[in-house]
Amino acid sequence: MRLACAEISKKFDGKTVLSSISLNLREGEILSVIGPSGSGKTTLVRVLSTLEKPDRGTLALFGKEIRWDSELIEVRRKIGYVQQKQVLLAGTVYDNIAIPLLLRNLEGEKVERKVERIADMLGIRGILKKNVRMLSGGEAQRVAFARGVVGEPELLFLDEFTANLDYRNAGILENQVKEFCDAGGSVLMVSHNLFQVRRMATRVAILIDGKIVEEGETEKVLENPRTELGNQFVSGKMPW
Ligand SMILES: Nc1ncnc2c1ncn2[C@@H]1O[C@H](COP(=O)(O)OP(=O)(O)OP(=O)(O)O)[C@@H](O)[C@H]1O
Ligand SMILES: [Mg+2]
Repeated sequence: MRLACAEISKKFDGKTVLSSISLNLREGEILSVIGPSGSGKTTLVRVLSTLEKPDRGTLALFGKEIRWDSELIEVRRKIGYVQQKQVLLAGTVYDNIAIPLLLRNLEGEKVERKVERIADMLGIRGILKKNVRMLSGGEAQRVAFARGVVGEPELLFLDEFTANLDYRNAGILENQVKEFCDAGGSVLMVSHNLFQVRRMATRVAILIDGKIVEEGETEKVLENPRTELGNQFVSGKMPW
């Protein structure tokens, strides 16, 4: 199992944001977490990617339980995270995409080749020397995606990874993710786009008010939700 969490809870300022979340993710799977705005999706991704410590519950990544007081660098090397609010560092597109490779102690031509390869695949080779301050929203999104996958992680977290993209570029990124999974990678994807979820996800979990109200195969959850809340959400009756 790439990821297994049990009874994860998290409060911010006394308010429960995640309530007893249990999930797992195998090799080659795409699990999509959907739910209304503010339901806790990004917080869940931050906890599962080890950036935020939960108040309760356990998390195991790559078969090992996370001990929050220990060094997490080794685990994080195997994780890619494309954040909802991308944070690009001052510098060029190239510099940004190279960061995960430098953290993995790669140097010289190896770094160049890997950066150029992913940039080619995502159609951003021509802007590698550009300063990130000059990028359009869609370019910045592709750079953030490139940085998330260039280090060949085993586990990839995607939080609204195509939100600023036209359908053509969104399609290119979606195909990259599918290839990543075909090669054994695991993905946890947050998306507001139910068409995208249908195209991509192996399984879906619906998160409402910090609780998973429904979880199962994509088709079943989206077509025949078992719960009233799940049904309201997938049928568009719940504001989000
Ligand atoms: N660091 C924080 N401190 C205090 N409250 C926070 C913090 N991070 C998130 N929250 C609150 O936790 C709740 C869940 O936020 P989160 O970002 O996880 O929602 P989300 O499901 O990702 O929403 P969206 O679909 O809009 O991205 C919100 O009420 C938010 O205001
Ligand atoms: Mg979010």
